[in-house]
Amino acid sequence: MSINQNTLLVRAFPANEQGAKLVAKARSQFICQNCGTVFNRWNGKCDSCGEWNSLVEENTASGIGASPKTKVQKGHAISLVPLSGEIEEAPRISTGIGELDRVTGGGFVRGAAILIGGDPGIGKSTLLTQASASFSRAGHDVVYVSGEEAIGQIRLRAKRLDAADTNVLLATETSVENVLTTLELRKPPALLIIDSIQTLWTAGAESAPGSVTQVRASVQAMIRYAKNTGTTVILVGHVTKDGQIAGPRVVEHMVDAVLYFEGERGHHFRILRTVKNRFGPTDEIGVFEMTGSGLQEISNPSELFLNERAVSAPGAAVFAGLEGTRPVLVEIQALVAPSPLGTPRRAVVGWDTARLSMVLAVLEAHCGIRLGSHDVYLNVAGGYRISEPAGDMAVAAALISSLCGNALPQRSVYFGEVSLSGAVRAVTQAELRAKEAAKLGFTSAVKPKSLSGKKQLPAGFEVTEIEELAELAAKIAGSHYQLSQQSKEN
Ligand code: TYD
Ligand code: MG
Repeated sequence: MSINQNTLLVRAFPANEQGAKLVAKARSQFICQNCGTVFNRWNGKCDSCGEWNSLVEENTASGIGASPKTKVQKGHAISLVPLSGEIEEAPRISTGIGELDRVTGGGFVRGAAILIGGDPGIGKSTLLTQASASFSRAGHDVVYVSGEEAIGQIRLRAKRLDAADTNVLLATETSVENVLTTLELRKPPALLIIDSIQTLWTAGAESAPGSVTQVRASVQAMIRYAKNTGTTVILVGHVTKDGQIAGPRVVEHMVDAVLYFEGERGHHFRILRTVKNRFGPTDEIGVFEMTGSGLQEISNPSELFLNERAVSAPGAAVFAGLEGTRPVLVEIQALVAPSPLGTPRRAVVGWDTARLSMVLAVLEAHCGIRLGSHDVYLNVAGGYRISEPAGDMAVAAALISSLCGNALPQRSVYFGEVSLSGAVRAVTQAELRAKEAAKLGFTSAVKPKSLSGKKQLPAGFEVTEIEELAELAAKIAGSHYQLSQQSKEN
């Protein structure tokens, strides 16, 4: 056993010159710029993440995971501490932006490395300029290093955001070594912002700037700085579609928290979502609106998403969703129309295509609603994205409503998970969802049968419990048929 372990160790980390040479001689490798998987041969498609054209040849003889060129020096002793010691409460600094505090779990933790990813132009630099201004106003040191924009451009933005009168220190630099040397000369700042990781490069890795090896090596150096000094380091990463430069996913595992800034083009609001957080919740969202003078916080997102709601049109259902601890009400719009095509169209915005197919199959198999020769379009209003299974019932309601041309009751919300057997399953926090709906002026909810009996609900709020999806179909389509029969009789 011990022999095996030793050989393994020698292979992974050659401790002598001979070993180092062996690795140095090895051919360069092909690394997927999207997910970081390493291949020996070039391929059109990454087998791991399925991305096309994302493999780039990189020299891995240096940088992260590679052998050192010179003889390995002896390490120095590190301190070992008992597990049972005092807990040092990770001290946080509030960002001064409520929605950002909510997403990070109460502010930035000292010494943490936080990655903020998002499409180019979504507002990452805007958010961080605003955060650094409020940090600075609270008396903390902030250093903002940009590798993308000139000082003039950053100042112009700061003016627009009303952040120009703060003591934030700026630099335009892309070299990791230059940044670290500069920072070593002064007291470590409370917050260091690197905009963006794709522009950073270190002499320690030989690959081109923006490649996986470079990005990883540079980020590693910045994280080391954060841990050594207690500075919170924010790393901005552009999400890349074409795989020409490494995406933020290749460093997700190295940082303490990963936040993604999302939004639909053509819509003004932006959602900050936690993907990973070592020091806080991972299911919270922060909602902002992009205005002419920067990002404004939206503390009640439901009002925003329901803002442009059409009055009692068929095919619209309001879903009472949940994001972390916060209920969010959104409108789901469906359009079902007879298809002239052999294979009808299925187009979805803001929801999962596979889940739509599932709901359509259940409607067909268990409710006798045939949509096989109909085009189906589904849209979540406002550009919001639903990831919860609880959205199933609202989607089903919108589909049935559109098919039979019967508008749903205007002041009603829907939620519940649909299973393949056609049963409607209970979802978490039903009470909280109903309460939010009541707060926004809704008067009834259609929901799964609750397991824990009736709870305290606002007076006058009507609850319809559904056990099978067929009941919902009968409820919506049935009243429609009655109506159409009445009109025939008249
Ligand atoms: P930016 O923060 O530069 O995006 P990122 O850093 O993610 O690439 O934001 C760019 C967009 O935001 C740009 O299209 C202009 C818009 N914007 C506003 O609408 N209002 C503002 O006050 C600012 C600063 C930007
Ligand atoms: Mg930017």
